[in-house]
Amino acid sequence: MDVVRSERRGAVALVTLNRPQALNALDVATLEAIATRVGEVARDPGVRALVLTGEGRAFAAGADIAAMRPFGAVEAGEFSRLGHRAFAALENLGVPTIAAVNGYALGGGCELACACDWIYASAKARFGQPEVNLGIVPGFGGTSRLVRRVGVAWAKEIVLTGEMIDADLALRIGLANRLFAPEELLEKAIAAAEAVAAKGPLAVAAAKRVIQHGQDADAHVANVLEQEAFAAAFATEDRAEGMTAFLDKRAPVFKGR
Ligand code: CAA
Repeated sequence: MDVVRSERRGAVALVTLNRPQALNALDVATLEAIATRVGEVARDPGVRALVLTGEGRAFAAGADIAAMRPFGAVEAGEFSRLGHRAFAALENLGVPTIAAVNGYALGGGCELACACDWIYASAKARFGQPEVNLGIVPGFGGTSRLVRRVGVAWAKEIVLTGEMIDADLALRIGLANRLFAPEELLEKAIAAAEAVAAKGPLAVAAAKRVIQHGQDADAHVANVLEQEAFAAAFATEDRAEGMTAFLDKRAPVFKGR
């Protein structure tokens, strides 16, 4: 049984964490499988968007506590770096990524959702960084990506209290972009991914890169990055097609060239 399944729905890769018996807890094999699936998507030019979800009643209930119990500092450091590598690969994927959070997204699970471009949540979703309950701190980006998503005060409340928050609060603080009924979540996430997949893929990838790297730069550098990406877009066949199709009043056919 694959601990992380991947299937194609047209131009959308649907990636599903598949250890429901452990609420999709993230052990070494699962983190490596995430990195492998992300690598496959990166190499497949037919994939234009990715949706990540969890099998069963959790998105992911965090790093695998049973696997971590025997760790010393050296093993913990290796584990943290593995998680960071896998999540950075996801974050830097050239296609947009949507986390469809179907249930618990705790600890490493919340961090995994935050490595996606945005989060859609089921009304049943529960988010949290419960590491302090275990005497540890977040290890896969909870002190960095979560801060950027919800701001420093909410991130501190979530990380320092270790308490779960419900889907409504996640929506209000901007952790989740939208909420859906549980039975609708996946179909809505895939529909959103299909909609983005129909846009010019070079433009979508460039816009994602500029936002991603621009937020790490000062405003001046971020604006220069945008100007360069804007200019580069004019060298693509897709932009000629997009503008011509608009003026011809027809739908564009983008080739990613
Ligand atoms: N690691 C390993 N196993 C886990 C797990 C985890 N993070 N979360 C759940 N499981 C396992 C349980 O041990 C249980 O296994 P058994 O059936 O073999 O006993 C199974 O999944 C079902 O879980 P529960 O019986 O606990 O289900 P519940 O409905 O009573 O509670 C829950 C659900 C509130 C999510 C609870 O499972 C829970 O609190 N899980 C731990 C959450 C957590 O602390 N996550 C942070 C981990 S640390 C981390 O992630 C560090 C980092 O940043 C890298």
